[in-house]
Amino acid sequence: MKLLLLPGDGIGPEVLAEARAVLGALALPGLEVGEAPFGGAAIDATGVPLPEATKAAALAADAVLMGAVGGPQWAGQPYDLRPEAGLLALRAAMQVFANLRPARLFPALADASTLKREVVEGLDILFVRELVGGVYFGEPRGIEQLPSGERVGVNTQRYAEHEIVRVADTAFALARARGGHVTSVDKANVMESGLLWREVVTARQAQAFADVPLSHMLADSCAMELVRNPRRFDVILTDNLFGDLLSDLAAMLTGSLGMLPSAALGAPGTPGLYEPIHGSAPDIAGKGIANPCAAILSLAMALRHSLGAPQAADRVEAAVGRALEGGARTRDLGGSLTTREMGAAIVESLAP
Ligand code: IPM
Ligand code: MG
Repeated sequence: MKLLLLPGDGIGPEVLAEARAVLGALALPGLEVGEAPFGGAAIDATGVPLPEATKAAALAADAVLMGAVGGPQWAGQPYDLRPEAGLLALRAAMQVFANLRPARLFPALADASTLKREVVEGLDILFVRELVGGVYFGEPRGIEQLPSGERVGVNTQRYAEHEIVRVADTAFALARARGGHVTSVDKANVMESGLLWREVVTARQAQAFADVPLSHMLADSCAMELVRNPRRFDVILTDNLFGDLLSDLAAMLTGSLGMLPSAALGAPGTPGLYEPIHGSAPDIAGKGIANPCAAILSLAMALRHSLGAPQAADRVEAAVGRALEGGARTRDLGGSLTTREMGAAIVESLAP
């Protein structure tokens, strides 16, 4: 098995160093770990955010674990030479269409949420975000100049039926496996792409997943319900843009963006892309105070979904829970541990 690490920018290298420490402690036989430049770091080294060699290594791996990309030093670059463009190109090259973003509350962190304990206790939502289509990739796109000289910014929301079917199937299968239900989120009231989304999801459920309860919700309403009564949700299936927004919102319910992992999966047998949900956090980069939990939990998802090591994944997740119960907290969680100390607390909590 091959795991490729892409530390990237900002706090990315700091949090991935702790994921590496966990890997070292697990000492899994037959796991080969590589590393490649990506994002702003790759722009500085090679001129582009996704060098060909990095792309080839990602496609040849079984799993790719990314830290974070982006930072103010690259913000002035043309759009396709920004670190974020490298991430979008990598997702597209790997065709990882289903982005799993669990928002689960660790019991020890019930008081870290900005919402009341009784609203978030027991929260366990799984977002399934479409990741390689929609307005992030739709054509036409760009900034055009009209004959009058005025400029117009254009992006296109576009979904073909097969793109909806494959991500819907992933959401239904996951909901079935956890004995849950699916809420499909769109803006069918104003967008044709949303109307088609709703029709196709409804049809897939009737055809292949009649045992999995399905409801539909408008995206604005979903944002409101996530704050009002988040525990009504189980699996939330949504498009690329709404999934980006709503998963950040849900992440905060659990106390910190620094806790949440994600997995991006494509067709069976193809490599998965794993990333913490948090970004590069330039404000705290280099200070050694970032929370490594999301990166370590993303490693656990990679072990489970791509590296054939579900027991190791369970061990890692349990170790994070135990470290938190033991009082280990980085600053974002109201504590004072450094990134390294938090990583060490998790390594120490790894059961044999
Ligand atoms: C995310 C991020 C990315 C996105 C950015 C960095 C391109 O916000 O993974 O949620 O918008 O998808
Ligand atoms: Mg985001």
